[in-house]
Amino acid sequence: MHVTKSLIELIGKTPLLDCTPLTGRGSARLVAKLELVNPGGSIKDRPALSMIEAAEEAGFLRPGMTIVEPTAGNTGIGLALVGNLKGYKTAFFVPARMSQEKITCMQLLGAEVHLVDKDLGMQDCIKLAQDFAEKTGNCYMPQQFENTANPDQAEDFLGPEVHEQLGYYPDGIAIGSGTGGTFTGLARWLRKNHASAKCWCVQPVGSVFDGDKKGSYQVEGIGNSFVPPTLDLSLADRIVSVADTQSFKRVKQAASELGLLLGGSSGANLDAAIELCHELGPGKTVLTVLPDGLERYLSKPWVQKLIKE
Ligand SMILES: Cc1ncc(COP(=O)(O)O)c(C=O)c1O
Repeated sequence: MHVTKSLIELIGKTPLLDCTPLTGRGSARLVAKLELVNPGGSIKDRPALSMIEAAEEAGFLRPGMTIVEPTAGNTGIGLALVGNLKGYKTAFFVPARMSQEKITCMQLLGAEVHLVDKDLGMQDCIKLAQDFAEKTGNCYMPQQFENTANPDQAEDFLGPEVHEQLGYYPDGIAIGSGTGGTFTGLARWLRKNHASAKCWCVQPVGSVFDGDKKGSYQVEGIGNSFVPPTLDLSLADRIVSVADTQSFKRVKQAASELGLLLGGSSGANLDAAIELCHELGPGKTVLTVLPDGLERYLSKPWVQKLIKE
């Protein structure tokens, strides 16, 4: 028998689920990491822990300090969860359009949450967080959009976990990008081990990663108004833009066909991954990640609309 002493032990080592039934005939095998089962409910527990540990090791983060970060919410939840267990205070700058569920979770974990006008972008959140940290003093900012520990953890832990579970390297990945940490780390890991594998970077329509003008979108956690240093687009064979309606259609399909309750970015990932499965065909394997769950978005109109459709 093993009794877990701290939730930190439970970050990562998520199950790998066969999602091939979603792809239809004549397609590659589709496997997905169930990142929603991390203790904080999302894939961002992983970089939250690795950024905190790297900062402690480097001496940038010391007892009594406050962790300050701009976040769409999931990184904040991860940082607050790990921060709590390690005794750090937390303060986050969050675009006001993000779900109330994520904001409530951060607050319940003791974080000070500053909502940023919904017309302002993530770059404004970064600036406001920097000003706050300077003014307050004794703060550490992980800076997930430029911290190398963010992509490194996907390369060093997430990728190798997949190989251990699958027994071989996938022939392609389709991975949604916000900071790009997950995509960049997994693409680096895969290129090193299976050079001809296809690496697709996924964003919502309205994000600027392929040079389009910024628009608005409802999916949370992926896409951005700038290309962050943690997103290495030179690793991308293709940047796939998925419309909100298509992402939400995949959320509904995953619920009805696999019993999976997923957030919107998982729907975008599944949509692109299914397209890649068709392109690669039978005998190949495609990997994606399912970053968080539906319960994080229940108050959002798109979820209510899905029930009625
Ligand atoms: C729900 C969700 N999906 C996907 C991502 C994208 O992950 P990354 O920052 O590694 O690109 C995030 C990041 O916050 C997220 O919250």
